Amino acid sequence: MKHLLKMMDLSTEEILEILNLADQLKYEQEHGIPHKALSGKTLGMIFQKASTRTRVSFETGMYQLGGNALFLSASELQIGRGEPVQDTARVLSRYINGIMIRTFEQSEVENLAEYGSIPIINGLTDLSHPCQVLADLMTVREYKNNLEGLNMCYIGDGNNMANSLTVGCLKVGMNVSLACPEGYHPASTVLEFAKQYPDNFKLVSDPMEAAADADVLFTDVWASMGQEGEAEQRKAAFKGYQINDEIMKVAKPDAMVQHCLPAHREEEITTKVFEQHANQIFDEAENRLHAQKAVMVMLMSDKD
Ligand code: CP
Ligand code: NVA
Repeated sequence: MKHLLKMMDLSTEEILEILNLADQLKYEQEHGIPHKALSGKTLGMIFQKASTRTRVSFETGMYQLGGNALFLSASELQIGRGEPVQDTARVLSRYINGIMIRTFEQSEVENLAEYGSIPIINGLTDLSHPCQVLADLMTVREYKNNLEGLNMCYIGDGNNMANSLTVGCLKVGMNVSLACPEGYHPASTVLEFAKQYPDNFKLVSDPMEAAADADVLFTDVWASMGQEGEAEQRKAAFKGYQINDEIMKVAKPDAMVQHCLPAHREEEITTKVFEQHANQIFDEAENRLHAQKAVMVMLMSDKD
């Protein structure tokens, strides 16, 4: 593994290796055992969109690993004035040891990886959110002890989260049921990938059908960053695509609920269900830190 650009690029073995290391790093953190694998290293963090969890967990994670993190707001970099990402990649590769980028186009992340000579980590694009899904898989495994054979249900927009969850969950042997309205399906590349799993994947329009017998339910905002202008139209399109008491009734009695956050209460999830599952959701947020530390150690530490 040279970069983390999207879930599709990771093998099942790599995903499990990241999750195992993340568990170890979490244990060490909780027991005060220092792990300074990135001492003297610097991570550049380029943000073209807002962030709470990604920014703080990467910065803190880097600090805990003995390294340093630079917050680079795209609007204050020359990238914001039109300097090509290809040049930014080659310049930053001379100064720092890795780049985490949150942006719109997946091609920008792929270009950084192609032109730079340091590891690139996707901190969210319109297409994918691999760091989040690694933390999600880690959290589900913590609660359910294993992943293989679990029924995962996602209700809502076929966005970056739906894309990465579909690929990640299928790769680790979970059954994936998505409920997305017409016109808001996941990316065609993801649907193409899912064709390899005809017995383990379904995309339907009825949230009740997708939630039947679920072990874990996911949802995400109806309008992602960059889609604020479509918010009203989306509110109409996604009416009923909500995790609520009725949905929870058809899931397994011990089903868990996950949300990458930020959440819009009474839109994609009711306040009641959110608060009933708040521990699981905030464990998921915490696990961003541990999963990303694992990714950074695997990508950025000296191998010998
Ligand atoms: N879930 C997530 O990526 O959160 P932020 O947008 O706050 O980074
Ligand atoms: N789908 C959301 C995820 C935020 C973490 C967005 O892209 O805004």
